[in-house]
Amino acid sequence: MKYALFIVWKTDSYYSQLSRNHDKKKKPAGISPSFIASGSCCTIPHNEDTNPHRSTNMDISNLRENYTQSGLDKEDLNSDPVEQFSLWFQQAQEAQLPEPNAMSIATATADGVPSLRTVLLKYFDQSGFVFFTNYSSNKSREISENPHVALMFPWVTLERQVVIKGTAEKISKAESLKYFTSRPHGSQLGAWVSHQSSVITGRKLLELKLDEMKRKFKEGKVPLPDFWGGYRVVPQTIEFWQGRPNRLHDRFQYARTNDKGWVIERLAP
Ligand SMILES: Cc1cc2nc3c(=O)[nH]c(=O)nc-3n(C[C@H](O)[C@H](O)[C@H](O)COP(=O)(O)O)c2cc1C
Repeated sequence: MKYALFIVWKTDSYYSQLSRNHDKKKKPAGISPSFIASGSCCTIPHNEDTNPHRSTNMDISNLRENYTQSGLDKEDLNSDPVEQFSLWFQQAQEAQLPEPNAMSIATATADGVPSLRTVLLKYFDQSGFVFFTNYSSNKSREISENPHVALMFPWVTLERQVVIKGTAEKISKAESLKYFTSRPHGSQLGAWVSHQSSVITGRKLLELKLDEMKRKFKEGKVPLPDFWGGYRVVPQTIEFWQGRPNRLHDRFQYARTNDKGWVIERLAP
């Protein structure tokens, strides 16, 4: 069974909302400077800091939550981690978490230098977890040298996280095309514009390139760029983490066995 994630529209409107705010030079919603200055959020020592390179020293060591929402027992778990993931994903959607399909993906160079960024999970099934990106980006270069990756879903509002470790492989062109054609027109054009992770001189360059692509593909369909497509992360381990009181959290890790089954083990928190 394939689980498709039907929340693309939300992401696109989210990005346009962000860019509108940026254009109007609005401050993003969040902690106001007066709230910080009031000392309600943190302690800012004045004379104690002897580090000449540090102008702000925020002590946030008193930010802590006791996790009490729920617990996890081995008997509660589905014997199949993809089914278990599907259940937790649905619960994340029902809880209306913003962008529940946003996940961190860690990659590393051949000699082990790591890097990390957010991408959007687009679908998953027994064969793996699929996301889309630019094949000339930093992450793609690292995956080509070293296919070992880790994914992390930070469902902190539910006091949960899921960590998946495995290997990433490019999906077929036909599979990438199928997803690409389902994207909104603007996102299709955007894929042509950006040579992701390369240094650029300014935003103007992107806007000019977008105008050029709009003219070029005015008639007919936008083709799939050669340098854009999906990766499937084939899992080797999948860990489900549920926060519990006093830091005695529940952690269960599914690990692949030689006969392509799964063994489930509880890990110390
Ligand atoms: C919420 C969110 C969703 C994102 N989704 C994607 C995505 O699906 N694919 C992608 O290539 N980059 C996505 N990005 C941008 C990446 O985090 C990153 O900046 C970009 O892929 C370049 O990474 P790299 O230079 O490490 O390759 C997203 C960023 C955020 C904050």
